[in-house]
Amino acid sequence: MCGIIGCVGRGDETLDTLVHGLSKLEYRGYDSAGVALANSHIDLCKHSGKIADLREALSERTLSGSVGIGHTRWSTHGPPTDENAHPHQDCTGDVAVVHNGIIENYQSLRDELVSAGHTFTSDTDTEVVPHLIEDALEAGADAEDAVRETVDRLEGSYAVAVVVAGCDSVFAARNDSPLVLGIDDDATYLASDVPAFRDFTDKVVYLADGEFARLNGAGWTVTDTDGNVIEKDIDTVQWDPEETGKSGYDHFMLKEIHEQPRALRQCLRGRVDELAGTVDIGDLGDLSPTGVQFVACGTSYHAALHGAQLFREAGIPSQAFLASEYATATPPIGDALVVGVTQSGETADTLSALRAARRRGARTLAVTNVVGSTAARECDHALYIRAGPEIGVAATKTFASQLAALNLLALGTSTTGDARQVISALRDLPGHVQEVLDESAAQEVAELYQDANAYFFIGRGYQEPVALEGALKMKEITYKHAEGFAAGELKHGPLALVTENTPVFAIVTGDDERARKTIGNVKEVEARDAPVVAITDGQSDVERYADHVLQIPETHPRAAAVLANTHLQLVSYHTAALLGRNIDKPRNLAKSVTVE
Ligand code: F6R
Repeated sequence: MCGIIGCVGRGDETLDTLVHGLSKLEYRGYDSAGVALANSHIDLCKHSGKIADLREALSERTLSGSVGIGHTRWSTHGPPTDENAHPHQDCTGDVAVVHNGIIENYQSLRDELVSAGHTFTSDTDTEVVPHLIEDALEAGADAEDAVRETVDRLEGSYAVAVVVAGCDSVFAARNDSPLVLGIDDDATYLASDVPAFRDFTDKVVYLADGEFARLNGAGWTVTDTDGNVIEKDIDTVQWDPEETGKSGYDHFMLKEIHEQPRALRQCLRGRVDELAGTVDIGDLGDLSPTGVQFVACGTSYHAALHGAQLFREAGIPSQAFLASEYATATPPIGDALVVGVTQSGETADTLSALRAARRRGARTLAVTNVVGSTAARECDHALYIRAGPEIGVAATKTFASQLAALNLLALGTSTTGDARQVISALRDLPGHVQEVLDESAAQEVAELYQDANAYFFIGRGYQEPVALEGALKMKEITYKHAEGFAAGELKHGPLALVTENTPVFAIVTGDDERARKTIGNVKEVEARDAPVVAITDGQSDVERYADHVLQIPETHPRAAAVLANTHLQLVSYHTAALLGRNIDKPRNLAKSVTVE
């Protein structure tokens, strides 16, 4: 949700460094992009569209300066036009600002500035920032104080970076939107996310809300709102720059689907002891929750639904909430543990739900992929899913790792009768996912049904969240209508939509009552001439009623969820590829949604 970059100390390579960083942040938004370099004046270039469009615009321009900022936009205020692209400037053109987030009091600030004679050229909330800085400079403040005074007046969520003509520094501040510094011997970077500068350094400093950073040739300082210096820890990032490349795959999504075996191994490493039948999740093992409430959005919400089932099965009352509904739903909290499931750790809805829970006295836990993310820092505890960086906007490997991590959490904090079977299934999971990847007939299914009117996905128990996730993946990258249902619900309305042009994907694992009932639902759609694709471990006779079978190895139903989902990821991927969609950057979406 908008990507910010800034750098000092790269000399003649400043512009290239900024554009390279933006290309690594493009997953955060791709409506427009721009850069500004400060020298005695500001050199600026911005363009609607993708980074490639910005590159083209830059090929006809000369920008100079060794202090710069850049931005890739996901539109909130105003359409994706050149005018609304960042950086934004003041009336004099001496100030340039990039911003991620939403300034809630922008209208009153804008009204005030317009009455004072300022001219606005965009529809954005961001544009108030350079004009406020302009006023402060005119009133005699130096550049740093002018930025500080301005930031003090902003309400809402922001990560801002600012350059001022004639000043050798980049200034930055954050509230509720991520910002991280990259520290190298001769250069300093700032960005919304580490991949922006990971090719240059693995040393990082995570900024917290209310902190203010100044980067210049002398290095970097972080101060609080009163200007007092804050001693910050320098962390080392644990993943390689190559992990943010495509490694020969056509798309990040496909690469990340294929990375699932490795991601799962990383998640499980050192945390399961199969011989003893135990799980070691460190201090988290002492959490002993008497109730668990999950909060999450999108794909992570589907993982949370899985998590809630795990705890219920262990006899611990548990429920998954859509994070955007949680704060207003105010469910009785008692002494429940509130678990935010969030790949990025920056999703505004999830952070807001976790904060609401904290205000109500709950203990909070972040299940996240990103070390140092806001969720990880704000929650009482963090469980890292260790999936490695995920660049494709559609979450794939992180969903698999979330399910594995939630199983570890449930096993490590509660007692279930079949812990040994689950642990053994988890141990086999990376190899089983590899089998699915090697043998999946997903591409043939995609070829057959690429022109379908709509796609439906059904499952029960642990396979219901997979049905929901299968539909979400299908709609977000193919732009086709897709719905997931608890299998039993189909006959309560959605069956009216089922025709010979609506393939139904039925996830049927095991041969228990759930499987038998789902097969009953399969027969119902078969009777309406809908093509049926069964995703099954072959234990039941669902194959008799299916037009196609996507086979998964026989395993525990919890692990089967990851395997079935792998097939469905591939069906969506191949369908989107056949339809020529922009798979890694689907329209209107962004990887990290930092606004509510
Ligand atoms: C879909 C997808 C989104 C995210 C959702 C939450 O493929 O990626 O639905 O799952 O925006 O994001 P995180 O997990 O970062 O909180």
